[in-house]
Amino acid sequence: MDKVPLVVGNWKMELSHKSAVEVFSAMKKMMTIKEYPVEIVVCPSYPSLAVIAAESKASGIAIGAQNIYHEERGAHTGKVSVVQIREFVTWCIIGHSEVRAAEGDSDLLITQKAKLLLQHGITPIVCIGESEADHAAGNTISIISLQIDVLLSSLDRVSLLKTPIAYEPLWAIGTGVLPDSNEVCEVVLLIRKKIAEKFDTELAERVRILYGGSVTAENVQQYISGPCADGVLVGGASVHPRDFLAIAEQVGHAYAR
Ligand code: PGA
Repeated sequence: MDKVPLVVGNWKMELSHKSAVEVFSAMKKMMTIKEYPVEIVVCPSYPSLAVIAAESKASGIAIGAQNIYHEERGAHTGKVSVVQIREFVTWCIIGHSEVRAAEGDSDLLITQKAKLLLQHGITPIVCIGESEADHAAGNTISIISLQIDVLLSSLDRVSLLKTPIAYEPLWAIGTGVLPDSNEVCEVVLLIRKKIAEKFDTELAERVRILYGGSVTAENVQQYISGPCADGVLVGGASVHPRDFLAIAEQVGHAYAR
């Protein structure tokens, strides 16, 4: 199968511009994992995108943004549009639970953002996940189904093929609390089943589905050793070059086996 696993680093607001440039240049120097088929993306904050994008040439690390506004242009104070980031990034995270919570992004708005990004040649990484309360109440499958249904009703086959989906249970993000790998697998299989029902099994197998939430170099193995996730979305550990690349190396290695 020509599917390459994907490892995405979400730097959130963790670093000053100076530190972001330093972290990136350290990461670039440490890149020794070219022998494994793994795609690596880091997503700095907006102010660092231009400089890091220039630094990233021939590094083997692609650059993404952490979000965009859903309008292409207009009077939207404080927002950043796809047109403003497209010369710097080839990826963009959308639907992250922190953005959903702060800005109220709905699943429909997130699909609108996905389409906008794809129109401008940027690959969206769509985050989905259930809250702690929903998890405790046993609603994980129904919440994920709703989120996926909205995405599948708006994206066509070609768009979906390009769009990785990251399953991030909200209660696992930044908490150190890890979901059981079987539970993650169950959600990944549900997403594939839904894609197969709407489209076909070939597409269902080819779409990359990631796991995200408290991933470290020490715990990543359990999520990538089975037939489930095609990579990971990493927050906290991604600003530490050695840790982040150790995660990427394990993902590439697991996939190459
Ligand atoms: P975390 O963040 O790895 O720090 O839990 C993951 C994310 O927010 O994507």
